[in-house]
Amino acid sequence: MDVIRQRVRVDFEYPVYFTTGVVTPSNLLLRDLVARAADQTPSHLIAVLDQGVLDHHPHLPAQIAEYATRHRTVLSLAAPVLVVPGGEAVKNDPRHVDDIHRAINDAGLCRHSYVVAIGGGAVLDAAGYAAATAHRGIRLIRIPTTVLAQDDSAMGVKNGINAFGKKNYLGTFAPPFAVINDVAFLQTLPDRHWRAGVSEAIKAALIKDRAFFDFLESQAAALRARDLVAMEQVIRRSAVLHLTHIASGGDPFELGSSRPLDFGHWSAHKLEQLTDHRLGHGEAVAVGIALDTTYSYLAGFLPEDDWRRIISLLPALGLSVYVPELGQNLDSEDDPTSVLRGLDEFREHLGGSLTILMLRSIGAPFDVHEIRRDVMIRSIRVLRDFEHAHRLREERHERYTLSEPAEPQGTGG
Ligand SMILES: NC(=O)c1ccc[n+]([C@@H]2O[C@H](COP(=O)([O-])OP(=O)(O)OC[C@H]3O[C@@H](n4cnc5c(N)ncnc54)[C@H](O)[C@@H]3O)[C@@H](O)[C@H]2O)c1
Ligand SMILES: [Zn+2]
Repeated sequence: MDVIRQRVRVDFEYPVYFTTGVVTPSNLLLRDLVARAADQTPSHLIAVLDQGVLDHHPHLPAQIAEYATRHRTVLSLAAPVLVVPGGEAVKNDPRHVDDIHRAINDAGLCRHSYVVAIGGGAVLDAAGYAAATAHRGIRLIRIPTTVLAQDDSAMGVKNGINAFGKKNYLGTFAPPFAVINDVAFLQTLPDRHWRAGVSEAIKAALIKDRAFFDFLESQAAALRARDLVAMEQVIRRSAVLHLTHIASGGDPFELGSSRPLDFGHWSAHKLEQLTDHRLGHGEAVAVGIALDTTYSYLAGFLPEDDWRRIISLLPALGLSVYVPELGQNLDSEDDPTSVLRGLDEFREHLGGSLTILMLRSIGAPFDVHEIRRDVMIRSIRVLRDFEHAHRLREERHERYTLSEPAEPQGTGG
């Protein structure tokens, strides 16, 4: 036998910026990022924009064009801004990736050009996939516009679209050229998506950072009241935890079977599919976190105190811990409409043996390779009852608040 053992090492480095008003002409961050040596022609770029962002920022394409005109010695917008649907729609229909590929081709972009993707995690995933596959990789600048994209998805090295009814079935590992978190976008985010993004920060706290969990608890009311300063702090810490894990976790391209950043995700991915994406990723992750936390408690790994804190923080942030699809068809784990089937699908996606993260305490996770179905089903029932009791409490509180006599007028100081 003869063998040549080939070894290839590649280092990646990408900056993650925090700014406001990224396409305001006086903000030079983007200009400086793509600037080349003085004797060269301007950098070419195209912009891919999330329809949902455009709906709330109708002047954005004109602003981008104005930015390019103002800085034309350095950058050139090689095509009109390409608008694609927001949310899973962009990942479910491969035509949108085709459209981005076509735009890259029509604009004559080369591997030193840029695709600037502006949007939620879904648009960034689809645009990232298109950028990674055109010419085997064009530089990607991500401008995430949701909490979830800013505190998690845009930080990483993955992109992809859905296929064959499976989440992220087609995709690549491809680090971005740069990421720019612009907090101003978050102001127009619907409440639902504002809340949903916090679940990935809770996840990061649970697996990495107990002090961050304390902080999230202390900021729950502020976060629900849409305090932008509190949210900025949460995003920043969560982003750092995600980035640090990817850089030093030893497996950035996920060659092994253990995937700590996917705590709670085996059921979350399945629930997104079972609810036909009625549940967004962050909302599904909240349920998934509640489920694996409850399993950790019932299996005897996690102390009751920690369980109670976690299971209380989620609703305090406006996140549900149960949906009906979680409880359906639990008697048959082979039934494709049972959440339990998600365990097998998760194993298939990762490859190798089943590896699921559970908690020993807040901030201290460990891997398990076997899931007791009876304990998992019990966990689901506990969550169902917990959610039911929570809803009743909320309704009672609402009724009480509504029936309270109005404050007497004009007596205050
Ligand atoms: N690549 C990764 O590592 C990774 C990690 C986590 C999640 N994800 C993926 O990210 C996706 C979820 O991303 P998401 O939570 O950002 O949701 P999303 O991309 O589905 O966006 C949610 C909605 O908000 C709209 N929107 C976006 N920004 C807005 C703004 N500033 N103002 C108003 N509306 C706005 C969008 O149009 C969409 O309708 C999922 O597909 C998930 O699989 C990827
Ligand atoms: Zn996630």
